[in-house]
Amino acid sequence: ETLDATGLHVLPGAIDVHVHFREPGYTHKEDFGTGTAAAAFGGVTTVFDMPNVIPPTGTAEALAAKHALASEKAYVDYGLYGLLGEDTIAHVPDLVAGGVIGFKLYMGNTFGNIPSPTTGGMLEAFEVVAPTAKRVSLHAETASIMARRESRLRAAGRKDPLAHLAARPAVVAVEAVSRAAVLSEWTGCRIHVLHISSAEELRPLAEAKARGVDVTGETCPQYLLLGAEDYDRIGPVIRVNPPVREARNQAPLWAALASGVVDMIATDHAPHIPDEKVRDDIFTVDCGFPGVETQMPLMLTEVAAGRMSISDYVRWSAVNPAKAWGLHPHKGILQPGAHADIAIVDLKRAWTIDDAALQSRAKITPWHGRAVTGLPIHTLVRGRFVMKDRTLVESARGTGRSVHTVQDMPAPRVANPDATMTEIVKIPAPSRGAAATGA
Ligand code: NCD
Ligand code: ZN
Ligand code: ZN
Repeated sequence: ETLDATGLHVLPGAIDVHVHFREPGYTHKEDFGTGTAAAAFGGVTTVFDMPNVIPPTGTAEALAAKHALASEKAYVDYGLYGLLGEDTIAHVPDLVAGGVIGFKLYMGNTFGNIPSPTTGGMLEAFEVVAPTAKRVSLHAETASIMARRESRLRAAGRKDPLAHLAARPAVVAVEAVSRAAVLSEWTGCRIHVLHISSAEELRPLAEAKARGVDVTGETCPQYLLLGAEDYDRIGPVIRVNPPVREARNQAPLWAALASGVVDMIATDHAPHIPDEKVRDDIFTVDCGFPGVETQMPLMLTEVAAGRMSISDYVRWSAVNPAKAWGLHPHKGILQPGAHADIAIVDLKRAWTIDDAALQSRAKITPWHGRAVTGLPIHTLVRGRFVMKDRTLVESARGTGRSVHTVQDMPAPRVANPDATMTEIVKIPAPSRGAAATGA
């Protein structure tokens, strides 16, 4: 096999720590084959898949079934999140033993109707996860605040797109991030704040980091590049949790990436099919849209525009995610000893995003028609082509591997010496420093 890379540039493949590949249960929206093919086309070589599927990934059986599906179909490497809720606390040891990349905890309701734990349940959950060294990723929106606002808006007859934004004001996230940071500090459980959408959330995040809490944060292209004025232009397709907010939030989010308060860019790839995205009443439209395939082109466009350097982009798309989950030094950076997880990109290629051309099964995004500059031409995972000359390498199906065994993280600092939950829920010793899968 020869490769002409004249004029192209080499980047570490992106690590997207937040995707919903919908399997099992919602495979009309996506599956591990279509989702990881979309990743390959987007220059993304590792994805972390969320547990809001049917059944939710909250038991050893559900996790084993998901591992089987993913290993059979995946084109790129992956981690699988375990669901952390009040009814899955007892399953934490089995989920860790079964190979999770980390846990996902829903502080507020979103797609899949996963129940949110009480604050007490969350404290117990953090106490139990802390000694496993796994990171808990948070959908940080407070359920009770949202529910009250949404029912008032509905009762008042509001069903326009902006009603979705009004039902989830930034305080919903500010309250949740602040509360999660306090519980993380108390228990020593490391946490990650998903889909940061507002300037207001940055303060509790920055304050927690300043206090030494092991907290990381992600934002997404939709919060960096879209604003409330896009609701009219894009229509209900823009509906996502948390909502796209007023454009005044964009500059603080970019500044937070630059200062390190926000660590990384993830996509929250949340595919739904057109029938589920186009309705008259915004509250009945499924929330979310695909993003794993468009993240790198959208961000390289910002590099071309001078908004960030290429090394900033690599830090936020690959290096920092790898460090936060202990994938470093095997993944996330081009250096001796690292896996050959590589995106070979044309930084000058100007093109227009077309939903119909996406690999994702859900061919509807708010990015349709957007002009971008920059395109992944070839993608390699552990040295193997998975996408070559903008063509899927069919033989790479099923070559993606779980990355949960490459973690090598120091034991967390437990702030509260009185924590007792771990004695009630038996925790096995974390398997640290295990050899990299497929290395
Ligand atoms: C996600 C989904 O559809 O699974 N939707 C979304 O709007 N982001 C769930 C989530 O991440 O909250
Ligand atoms: Zn979420
Ligand atoms: Zn999500």
